Amino acid sequence: ILPGTPEEARVTAGELAAGLIASVVQSKPDAVLGLATGSTPLPIWSALARLDLDWSRVRGFALDEYVGLPADHPESYRAVITREVVDPLGLTPSLVHVPGDDGGPIASAGDRYEAAIREAGGVDIQVLGIGRTGHIGFNEPGSSFASRTRVKTLTEATRADNARFFASADEVPMHCLTQGLGTILDARALVLLAFGEAKADAVAGALEGPVSASLPGSAIQLHPEVTVLLDEAAASKL
Ligand code: GLP
Repeated sequence: ILPGTPEEARVTAGELAAGLIASVVQSKPDAVLGLATGSTPLPIWSALARLDLDWSRVRGFALDEYVGLPADHPESYRAVITREVVDPLGLTPSLVHVPGDDGGPIASAGDRYEAAIREAGGVDIQVLGIGRTGHIGFNEPGSSFASRTRVKTLTEATRADNARFFASADEVPMHCLTQGLGTILDARALVLLAFGEAKADAVAGALEGPVSASLPGSAIQLHPEVTVLLDEAAASKL
């Protein structure tokens, strides 16, 4: 739990998470990073951009992607990851993957993504935010802890939360591809960040509630190597 103003806590959390990622990359130049979108991880990317690291061989797999948006739509997660992570850090674009971005059929995109992660040797460190509903990636309540990358329907709450990125709520896609909870738990280390009062219930449930599919974030309790970085508001219900 990081002290200070919300902005100070965000910056510190970003620097701490960046430090964890940097030590992985320093010991393994072709490390496999698990990338996340959303506003929460932004301080990590800006902290990483300030470090002098060789990103040329680092590989990346995003957690999730909308289904039904053109890849060049500015709010596709491919576009977001390019804009916020790949370009500022100088990652090699062909080494960074987003579910469904190989152009093959959507129905089997999950299996292909799982195979690509396996071939890369698995994710070394996975960045996570958490949604108000307790979702991680786009694994909404009810998702199996054994789930793998697959097509899911977004909940109305998540579509409403993400409407701020689109011209209107109707434009938010109905479906997504997301790594499963089982996929996420396979990463060798997890780092979860959350900021703000709106996340307090999800954080308390994920960290201290029962391990239950009704709060997907609680799956992280099953992982042996997790770092959680919170501001005081997000931690206020612990
Ligand atoms: C989105 C993403 C999640 C993210 C969450 C929280 O729907 N699919 O990966 O963790 O919502 O977003 P934010 O960090 O903007 O609060």
